[in-house]
Amino acid sequence: MLLPEGVVIDGTTGAVSPSTDRYEKRLSDLRGFFRDDAALDRAIAEGGDPIAYEVIDYRHQASDLAFGTTIMMPGKVGDEFNMTRGHYHLRTECGEAYYTQSGEGLLLLESRDGEVRTVEMKPGVCAFIPPDWAHRSINTGKDKLVFVWFCATDAGHDYGSIKDRGMRKLVVERDGKPALVDNPNYA
Ligand code: F6R
Ligand code: ZN
Repeated sequence: MLLPEGVVIDGTTGAVSPSTDRYEKRLSDLRGFFRDDAALDRAIAEGGDPIAYEVIDYRHQASDLAFGTTIMMPGKVGDEFNMTRGHYHLRTECGEAYYTQSGEGLLLLESRDGEVRTVEMKPGVCAFIPPDWAHRSINTGKDKLVFVWFCATDAGHDYGSIKDRGMRKLVVERDGKPALVDNPNYA
């Protein structure tokens, strides 16, 4: 039987205690997601293939609700800010919430019929991700971006659509500021 418990989440480091799982993605794991492959190669060579982000889970298969943290490093690949792969949920009726704890970023969302929205990520903002919207988080700041996510345990991830086609918009640095621009490679 699952028992109630208080899970301690550190909003600065993203540590979750207790947690059930974790994984990390290095820049080399994100090949195919950034626009500029040569810039990715340079960033990998210069940084020693640094960790781009880490995900820590509190998840029990016997419960419908899971949560955890995503900890995103600052940085850029070319002029594109560090980002997650981005996905739709396999169970298309499942939404999600992202509650930012520290840092600053943008949540980029895209509906199946091509509507694009962003939600600012900063402490105090809990972003609502409606069902069947692709979502990718982007660290546009100088520090770690840490957020807590809540979603259905079995929502699942569809990465293929985003990897194959890309998202319609990119978040790049222009004049020292984040800007949303058309993705020239969008298929
Ligand atoms: C789960 C969710 C987050 C992301 C995490 C990494 O549904 O949206 O936990 O999985 O922020 O992003 P991806 O999975 O897109 O690499
Ligand atoms: Zn999700």
